[in-house]
Amino acid sequence: MPTVLITGANRGLGLEFVKQYAADGWTVIGTCRNPIGVGELAEIEGDVSVYGLDVMNTPSVTRFVEDLKGRPIDVLINNAGIYGPKPVKAADLTIEDWTPVIQTNAMAPLFMSRALLPNVQASERKMIVNISSIMASIEQGSGPSEYIYRSSKTALNMVMACYAEEISETGVGVVLFHPGWVQTEMGGPNATMTPTESITHLRASIEKLTFADTGTFKNYDGTSLPW
Ligand SMILES: NC(=O)c1ccc[n+]([C@@H]2O[C@H](COP(=O)([O-])OP(=O)(O)OC[C@H]3O[C@@H](n4cnc5c(N)ncnc54)[C@H](OP(=O)(O)O)[C@@H]3O)[C@@H](O)[C@H]2O)c1
Repeated sequence: MPTVLITGANRGLGLEFVKQYAADGWTVIGTCRNPIGVGELAEIEGDVSVYGLDVMNTPSVTRFVEDLKGRPIDVLINNAGIYGPKPVKAADLTIEDWTPVIQTNAMAPLFMSRALLPNVQASERKMIVNISSIMASIEQGSGPSEYIYRSSKTALNMVMACYAEEISETGVGVVLFHPGWVQTEMGGPNATMTPTESITHLRASIEKLTFADTGTFKNYDGTSLPW
């Protein structure tokens, strides 16, 4: 069976990815900042291994990549992300608030992807999936708010569009998805989709990906989204 690696696997969308891929018989590598006390993740049945990994911590990433050396990864899912503060006016923005969100949401996925590229390249499916957001879309932007999160996901989209081109000769695809508005700690209770619904759609869309999709931004149902 194929292998999938999911960052931020201890809760929310990441946890649901692990549950569904494990139930489907995939080999699942779930990563989370603190693997001690991740009750639900540790209890998932199937071929699941859990690793400690803070995507913002370079030694943590280096150790993790060393542990996985030589192991093919069919689908790498860069899922870990943070929302950060929600200043509405430009006057309220600070570098201290903004920087970690850009680092976590836009830089860390690229650093993970480049470090694990040999693993993905050595696999059958050769796919890097990034969980972006419709809030990244400049075309669909809705008013002057949420500067920090929006800009971090727009940056992720551009970073991955560049990376898709840079590594096109490797045959590894790089795709961005909006998961829907989902009931997680980040999405909140009023969100319109459950994690089960979102990840069921996303997995079906990921299943259909081919290299021809590299460098694209898609909705959870696989349809195109405007940049
Ligand atoms: N929910 C939505 O409606 C929605 C919509 C659009 C896009 N998204 C995106 O979907 C992804 C998953 O979101 P979610 O809704 O599942 O959010 P969530 O419930 O807040 O979960 C976020 C996950 O990311 C992990 N994480 C954060 N920073 C990390 C770091 N430095 N290293 C490793 N793991 C880290 C968290 O780990 P800890 O438990 O250690 O904090 C947690 O597992 C995110 O990229 C988010 O931006 C969500």
